[in-house]
Amino acid sequence: MKKTFYITTPIYYPSGNLHIGNSYTTVLCDTLNRYKALKGYDTRYLTGMDEHGQKVETVAKERGLSPQEHVDNIAEDTKELWNLLDIEYDDFIRTTEPRHEQVIERIFEHLKSTGDIYKGHYEGYYCIHDESFFTETQLEEGHICPDCGRETKLLKEESYFLRLSKYEDWLLKFIEENPDFITPKSRKNEVVSFIKGGLDDLSVSRTSFDWGVPVKSDPKHVIYVWIDALSNYISSLGYESNDASLFDKYWYGDEVLHVVGKDILRFHAIYWPIILKALGLPIPFKLYAHGWYMMKDGKMSKSKGQVVYPEPIIERYGLDTLRYFLLKELPHSGDGLFTPEDFVDRINYDLANDFGNLLNRTISMINKYFECPLKKPKKTFFDYDNQLTETITETIKEYETYMDHQKVSKAIQSVWSLISRTNKYIDETTPWILAKQKKERDTLESVLYHLVESLRHIGILLSPILVNGADKLFDQLGIKQSLQTWDSLEFGKPITIDVTNNPEPLFPRLDKEKEVDYLANRTNKRQEKKQPKPTQPENLIEFDDFLKVEMVVGEVKECKEHPDADKLLISQIDTGDRVRQIVSGIKDHYTKEYLPGKKLIVVKNIKPIKLRGVKSEGMILAGKNKKTLEILEVDHLNPGDKIS
Ligand code: ME8
Repeated sequence: MKKTFYITTPIYYPSGNLHIGNSYTTVLCDTLNRYKALKGYDTRYLTGMDEHGQKVETVAKERGLSPQEHVDNIAEDTKELWNLLDIEYDDFIRTTEPRHEQVIERIFEHLKSTGDIYKGHYEGYYCIHDESFFTETQLEEGHICPDCGRETKLLKEESYFLRLSKYEDWLLKFIEENPDFITPKSRKNEVVSFIKGGLDDLSVSRTSFDWGVPVKSDPKHVIYVWIDALSNYISSLGYESNDASLFDKYWYGDEVLHVVGKDILRFHAIYWPIILKALGLPIPFKLYAHGWYMMKDGKMSKSKGQVVYPEPIIERYGLDTLRYFLLKELPHSGDGLFTPEDFVDRINYDLANDFGNLLNRTISMINKYFECPLKKPKKTFFDYDNQLTETITETIKEYETYMDHQKVSKAIQSVWSLISRTNKYIDETTPWILAKQKKERDTLESVLYHLVESLRHIGILLSPILVNGADKLFDQLGIKQSLQTWDSLEFGKPITIDVTNNPEPLFPRLDKEKEVDYLANRTNKRQEKKQPKPTQPENLIEFDDFLKVEMVVGEVKECKEHPDADKLLISQIDTGDRVRQIVSGIKDHYTKEYLPGKKLIVVKNIKPIKLRGVKSEGMILAGKNKKTLEILEVDHLNPGDKIS
């Protein structure tokens, strides 16, 4: 039976479109997953979205959307991005899906029934951005969040608590007994000292907002977003559902790996094992916490425009360049830097020069010096031959050790040492001189065979990384499928070699100045979508559903700005039956002076909600595109007239 491997990314917040930081984690997991599949494992790759919580609710309101509309929107964009990055995930979980919500409800009730969750009162500070609680002493001056530097809010509310304190000693022992549980070591040490500082029980419910899973037995409480989010790793496998076969197979299988950024290690290394322990479940996973991609001026920040989006890079340079750069430039235990200059250098030096040229030169020489397919040599001609095959064997071993420990950057470096060794082999054996001597024909054939064999190995080792480039390499060298596998990593497997007559460079060289300019100025914006999304057939609704929406003409009587939100206006609108207060996200496009006297279309029977603390009893209709938003006005109709 095949060994199992289950790998997960964090599930991302839909607080905006994802950048190269989140893409890094997802590409890294994709690469590790492809590597395990290459080695014959039965693999499962999970990613998804963390769609509940106050931060999401706030961002949706700012965009003038309902939370559900907002998360649907971002989830679609995210799936498109993962397709663009050729991420081979098996499941994309969204925490707003019923299959997840049901499980969270049950987990919470279970822990409540065993006393691991109990009711109390919370008083302390909360960072909405990080969805994280802090005591006064943990904060920086001015009640600033120590993690992200934003202002925190003082919370005083009834809350359920998870008994972290009860599990403190157990967790320290668990970490000690499982030395590889957290890597790198430096991060493990951080976690251990944090636990030794004492674990307070964790507030695991909120009453001051709605966008989350309600506690089943006490629905005014919404389950804390981190408890909700962490459980995705088992809800997606069908834990506590009618079909737990995936859970049994992968959670009780051979290897489970959670990959996270250093920012969220604590939640995974402390809360998650304690939840599992309290549920009576095993803790089969290892945790790898990687560093961050930084910009020259510090952290990536969307608000400062200091951010890099993957789409414009892939559009211009192809997918493999970005995958290569991201995987190569972030060391195993530190941070990495994205700069336009480095990006162009990596393409030009590593991909175009060292690797692409080696392939191109090899094929060109074969075409120039030989007509028939090359045959496998019967003997060795140079010491260099053995040196090259030894380097190939060593590289495979090194690569495997690095990949097994998530050291992908190091694994890439060892493949590049083999590439350099192979380039050097050309200089040492001088095929162009051998070609001039008839008696050296066999020697030349052997040299060219060695070059192709080295490239075949390089292609297999790079196939989890350069997902298009490896295929092109096999294609151009005429390597059949059975010789592209992990098991075929052994020098001398092909009996004959028949390369293409028309080699194309895998990675064209770039004009540095021009491309640095592009990267510096064009990659902090996402590209506009070329085509509107096609309407999905499943979006069709029944006519009766449409009739449920009551729309009437409303006349704006008064209008003012929302005291607490930049994008919202508050209007008093006469809808024939009475005057209602409606809050709308239109302030970027209309002033409070423009609206009074205007007759608009109002949806009357939508449930009232509070937007940043102000009640809103309906919606006004507007159309929008990327540039503008326009409310629908009428001339000759009167307040209360029906729209259908
Ligand atoms: O924390 N460099 O979601 P999130 C490298 N929903 N990686 C980066 C990065 C950067 N500059 N910026 C972000 C959450 N990341 C929670 C997770 S899991 C049960 C819940 C990556 O959208 C990195 O993996 O804020 C980090 O941990 C993750 O994105 C945070 O994503």
